[in-house]
Amino acid sequence: MTQAFPNTMDYSGFNAPSRVECDIFDLVVEGQIPAEIEGTWFRCVPDPQYPPMLGEDTYLSGDGMVSAFRFENGHVDFKMRYIMTERLKAERKARRGLHGRYRNPYTDDPSVRGVVDRTVANTTPVWHAGKLLAMKEDGRPYQLDPYTLETLGSYDFNGALRSETMAAHTRLDPQTGELFFFGYEAGGLATRDVALCIVDRDGKLVSEQWFQTPYASFMHDFAVTREHIIFPVFPTIANKQRMEAGGPHWVFEQGEDAWVGIMPRYGKVSEMRWFKRSPACSSFHFMNAFSDGEQVHLDFGLSVCPPFPFIKKDSNIDLQPKDIRSHYVRWSFDLSQPGEHIEERVIGPAGDFPRVADKDFMVDYRIGYYQGFNPQNGPPLVSGPVGAGFNTVMRLDLDGGAIKSLALGPNTTVQEHVHIASRQSGHEGYLAFVVDLHDQNLSEVVLVEAEHLDRGPIARIKLPLRLRCQVHGNWVSSDALPLRD
Ligand SMILES: [Fe+2]
Repeated sequence: MTQAFPNTMDYSGFNAPSRVECDIFDLVVEGQIPAEIEGTWFRCVPDPQYPPMLGEDTYLSGDGMVSAFRFENGHVDFKMRYIMTERLKAERKARRGLHGRYRNPYTDDPSVRGVVDRTVANTTPVWHAGKLLAMKEDGRPYQLDPYTLETLGSYDFNGALRSETMAAHTRLDPQTGELFFFGYEAGGLATRDVALCIVDRDGKLVSEQWFQTPYASFMHDFAVTREHIIFPVFPTIANKQRMEAGGPHWVFEQGEDAWVGIMPRYGKVSEMRWFKRSPACSSFHFMNAFSDGEQVHLDFGLSVCPPFPFIKKDSNIDLQPKDIRSHYVRWSFDLSQPGEHIEERVIGPAGDFPRVADKDFMVDYRIGYYQGFNPQNGPPLVSGPVGAGFNTVMRLDLDGGAIKSLALGPNTTVQEHVHIASRQSGHEGYLAFVVDLHDQNLSEVVLVEAEHLDRGPIARIKLPLRLRCQVHGNWVSSDALPLRD
C-alpha cells in the first residue's frame, strides 16, 4: 500500500487506523477480577483497511473489526479479527479503496458498483439463538464464529428476511428470548420502508411487517416494552436524487418535525399511532422504555442535531459537541388521549451510550448507566466518530435523580461500557469499558462495581496496543455461550 491515510480527525491521532488482527493470551491484570465474571465481551469497531478512495471519509466507514475479551477465573484472553465482508474482499483484491462517499453507491468505483454488498458490518455484535451476528444498518448482518471470530458470511435468517437491511440496535427480550429488530431503507436506498421483525428464541424469523415513515430517516435505534414497540423518527433524511448527483446520503433538515410511532408489541403496523415533536431534534440511542397501562415512557439523551461532523457539515450546522447534547429526558405518551402530544421532562445531564441491566430491559426500572463529558476532567480529546470522546461514566438513579460518576484522569477518554450481571443476590453487577490512554497511545479495560462506580476500578486489564473506539459491544455470559467449543 503506497497511499497514506488522510491527516484528518477521522484518520489521525487516536483515530489512526490500526488494522491489527491479533491473539493475546492472558492479558496483564492489575487488581482482581471477581471469579463470577465468566463470559465473552464482543465489540465491533470500524478500522479502515485502505485510505478512502475519494481522499476523505468518516470514521463510520471503516471496515468492521470484531474483537473478543474472554473472561475466565480472573484471567482475560483477547482476540481481534477483520470481518471479511464482500466489500473488504473486493478492496483487498484490488489493494485499494473502491467505495466513495459514505453510503452513496453512486460514487463507487465502477468495478464494484451494484455488484458488491457495501456494508462494513462495523457497528454491533449480537449473540442470539446460537449465532453471533455483526451488523451495520445499511445492509444485512454477517454471521461470525463466536470462538475463532472467522466470518461465516452474510446472513438472511435462512432465506426468510425480505428487508435489505437490519439495524444494528436490536432488542433482546430477557424474559421470552425473542429478538426484536428493524431495518430502515428496507426496500432500497432512501426508501421510507421500515421492516419490523421478530425472531423467536430458537432463531426463527416469525414475523416481518413493513410500514412507511414520514421521511427516509436515519433510524439508528428503537425501543420495545412488554406491551409496545416505539419507533422514533428524527429528521436526518436521505434523498436519492441528491445521492445520484454525488451528494451526501444524510442531511439534517431543521425545518422538519420529529415523529414517534407506537404500536402494540404483537400488533399490526397498521395500528401504529404517530406523535409529533417540534422543533426538530435528534437521538441515536434509547436507554430503556416501558409501558404502564396506556402510558408509554421512553428515556434517552436528547440532542438538537446529530453530533457527527460530516452530517453537520453537509447540513450547514456549526455547533460544537457540547452545544449539541442537551439533557437526558423521559418522553411520555398517553395512549388514552387523542392527539400527537409528547410530554417531556429532564431526568439527567447530557450524554450517550446508555445501558441498563438486561433484567431491567422493557420494564419500569431504577438504574441506568451512560456517559458524558465533564470539562473538569480535562479538555476534549479526539476519540471516535464524533471527535471529542466522552470522559465520564455515570450511574443515574431515577428514584431521586442522583448521579454517581467516574473519570479516569485528564488524558483519558472512555469507550462504551457493557454491563455484566452478578450471580450474587442484591448485587448490581459490573461495568467494563475500554479507556483510551492518550498520553501513552495505549488502551486498557477498566472494571468497576456498577453500584459503586464512583469508587474507581476494581481491576485494570492492560493492553499492549491502542484499541479503536468501540461502536457497540455486548457481554455474553458463559451460561449463554460456553467459553470453549
Ligand atoms: Fe448505536
